[in-house]
Amino acid sequence: MEVHEAIMSRRSVRRFLPKAVPMDSLRRIIEGAGMAPSGNNIQPWKLYVVGGATKDAISADILDAIANDDPKSHGPEYPYYPTKWFEPYQSRRRETGFGLYAKLGIARDDMAGRQAQMNRNYEFFDAPIGMFVSFHRDLATGTYLDVGMFIENLLVGARGEGLHTCGQAAFTWYHRVVRKHLPMPDEELLACGISIGFEDEGAVDNAFRTAKLPIDDFATFLDVE
Ligand SMILES: Cc1cc2nc3c(=O)[nH]c(=O)nc-3n(C[C@H](O)[C@H](O)[C@H](O)COP(=O)(O)O)c2cc1C
Repeated sequence: MEVHEAIMSRRSVRRFLPKAVPMDSLRRIIEGAGMAPSGNNIQPWKLYVVGGATKDAISADILDAIANDDPKSHGPEYPYYPTKWFEPYQSRRRETGFGLYAKLGIARDDMAGRQAQMNRNYEFFDAPIGMFVSFHRDLATGTYLDVGMFIENLLVGARGEGLHTCGQAAFTWYHRVVRKHLPMPDEELLACGISIGFEDEGAVDNAFRTAKLPIDDFATFLDVE
């Protein structure tokens, strides 16, 4: 597959088929991710790949925590989103959230429906494989750039293998639960989870398409012929 085609066909998939991810594809995707550039080539990323019983146990434990724990006892290790939203980001965020809920038939005031959809994150959207990306918490802000490139290589690399993905910051809220199941040292910060598998193409969960900005809205050309 052409690189541009892989990039253009990447999107977040939220319902996967119960079809195994071939191990050679998985290893190629991860090998490609590890080729990402990083400042001074420090390669700060760590990756935990889960399937089967480990993945199921993480799902069960998080869903149990949602049902039984004080929500305030869980939270992300780092602020992925601003505490106060502002324009134009506020509108883009709303358009994306409401667009997805509209496709799923979840009304804006249907809090139970929204929570159920949120919980689908913790079932890895039925994907056979889940991944967790982390890095040493004492590294600097530049590491977030490096790890972002690593993540994007995973997402685009998956397309090259005919697979789809969904990045999931949702897992960072339950990093303490996730940690119980992974050999992840305390000094590692959980950046995000990722679901990976084959898309359920007929599923309404995958029918929503996010709007992307035309390039002149975000790129400035100066003295470029
Ligand atoms: C690091 C990261 C974390 C994300 N976290 C979630 C998440 O927790 N749950 C979810 O449904 N989608 C999540 N997404 C997917 C975004 O909502 C999605 O990328 C965005 O709406 C743009 O849509 P597209 O990926 O289809 O282009 C995440 C994406 C990234 C890159």
